[in-house]
Amino acid sequence: MDEDTPEETGPSAPTGGPRDEAAGSPRTDGGTERADGPADEVALDPWGSASVGDYADLFEEFGIEAFDDVADDVADPHYLMRRGVIFGHREYDAVAEAMANDEPFAALSGFMPTGDPHIGHKLVFDEIIWHQRQGGDAFGLIADLEAHSARGMSWSEIDEHARNYLLSLLALGFDAEAGEIYRQSDNREVQDLGFELGSKANFSEFEAIYGFDGETNVSHMQSVVTQTADILYPQLVDEPKPTVIPVGPDQDPHVRLTRDLATRVRYFKVTEAFASFELDDDERQLVRAAYDALAAGSDGDAEVNDAETDVRCEAAAEWLADYEPPEPDRDDAGGDAAPGLDLAAAKSTALDKLRAGGKEPLRPRVRFFDRNATDEAFEALIEAVGGEKRVFDGHVDAFEMTRSEAEAVAREVEIDHGGFGFRQPSSIYHRFMTGLTGGKMSSSIPASHISLLDDPEDGYDKVRSATTGGRDTAEKQRELGGEADECPVYELYAYLLAGDDDELTKTVYSECVNGERLCGGCKEQAAELMREFLDDHQEKREEAEELLDDLDIDLDSDRRGTGGEH
Ligand code: TRP
Ligand code: SF4
Repeated sequence: MDEDTPEETGPSAPTGGPRDEAAGSPRTDGGTERADGPADEVALDPWGSASVGDYADLFEEFGIEAFDDVADDVADPHYLMRRGVIFGHREYDAVAEAMANDEPFAALSGFMPTGDPHIGHKLVFDEIIWHQRQGGDAFGLIADLEAHSARGMSWSEIDEHARNYLLSLLALGFDAEAGEIYRQSDNREVQDLGFELGSKANFSEFEAIYGFDGETNVSHMQSVVTQTADILYPQLVDEPKPTVIPVGPDQDPHVRLTRDLATRVRYFKVTEAFASFELDDDERQLVRAAYDALAAGSDGDAEVNDAETDVRCEAAAEWLADYEPPEPDRDDAGGDAAPGLDLAAAKSTALDKLRAGGKEPLRPRVRFFDRNATDEAFEALIEAVGGEKRVFDGHVDAFEMTRSEAEAVAREVEIDHGGFGFRQPSSIYHRFMTGLTGGKMSSSIPASHISLLDDPEDGYDKVRSATTGGRDTAEKQRELGGEADECPVYELYAYLLAGDDDELTKTVYSECVNGERLCGGCKEQAAELMREFLDDHQEKREEAEELLDDLDIDLDSDRRGTGGEH
């Protein structure tokens, strides 16, 4: 994966600007809303009403990749992965690979303490915990600065909610000794990192990404840079490593911005080059094709020694002139870089460059650009480059290093000289749950969702009275089968109640669609499972009290501030 992929911070067409008035009417879903019909337009707004009409649109529109594409790289996938609840990702391959090779990786997510934790948050808690059990460093954070600045929550409300989130996270199995829990306001390193990253972002960009405008409060903007710092924090406290951020797709704008900033703070940019002039990604692909064809032809052997081939720019131009570039293929083009791949246009510019190069030999090389390096770091880099090299004003060309060797050297020099050396963070995205009453799951409609603090009997009752994908009459149900795909109760089985038991979800599904299962009994079974789950979870929450008290986290903050605007 190209670490230096120009990132995807194009406008994300937010629905409404997160203005201060909007901040006064808190979104209460905590990120689990889903539209009950197709949305008019695709929009990913972290502070809007998160609704996704068609998940497939997110692939096209924003370059989120289908999780299916990486699912096979995960040895023992979580049930949310197996069941398509986790539907999308960015560069999760890096994390899957680290996991498979027993290399370091991390998982981090954050929670805005605006209300009670509910079954939508449980998805994310479980995702963090699963990655921890797979050997990752795990982080859970309380986004208190965001809750205060973007949602107007008072500090005492924040303390209370934070406590409830953390008890559930611990009750579900987060190992707080191995992992780390923090609140944004208490983490000085995160604040400092946010400050540093903020120097590489500007307001126009926030306008384009989030729909911020002149009415947006400044602390809200600060909470955005804080979140980018959260996302990179696992790499700061330890070493740069693949990091997955499990979130709902509404958080993707933050992930995209952070992937960009992670790159912008790097000291060096490493690219491949063939001659003194610059090529963009598409041009490079064509020049490589020309070089490979001519270098292989020169001694009839594909395994050529680069130093001995004598391929000139003008000869490559001649070859390229007759070359038909393949049709762009999104699937092959490699994720983030895919949009805009246009080899026909690149062909004409590559030709110009090669012709201007004349007799200059084409020689593959890796190029290090000085992006943000200190003078000492640039000097140290020159020293560190092994083999034949050529030093220019703002860059160094190395003729005997592979791209990945070069990346490693660049990162090492950067870290040794006070830089971060970040890798771009990865993400996975889960579907939002449908409300039990149909439509969105929203905390403002108690019957639509189940809080992890709900009395188990209430949980039972809510499931018993849930909307279903069933037919009007039992006869019709037997004849036509139920619509499990449209059924919030089936979703409960798949997202939560069946746990790891795939047989149960399969049985419910097939019995439903084959007309062998009637909704009354189906809901009774689900309602009982829900009661059991809540019973058990709440018992574990009580046990977690002690764990939480032992942790170094202040849940009784003495911050002064405003009471919030509800
Ligand atoms: N913005 C997230 C939310 O609305 C919370 C959050 C803060 C977060 N920092 C994060 C999520 C880092 C993931 C990673 O809930
Ligand atoms: Fe939903 Fe179960 Fe009824 Fe099928 S039988 S529609 S899964 S409640």
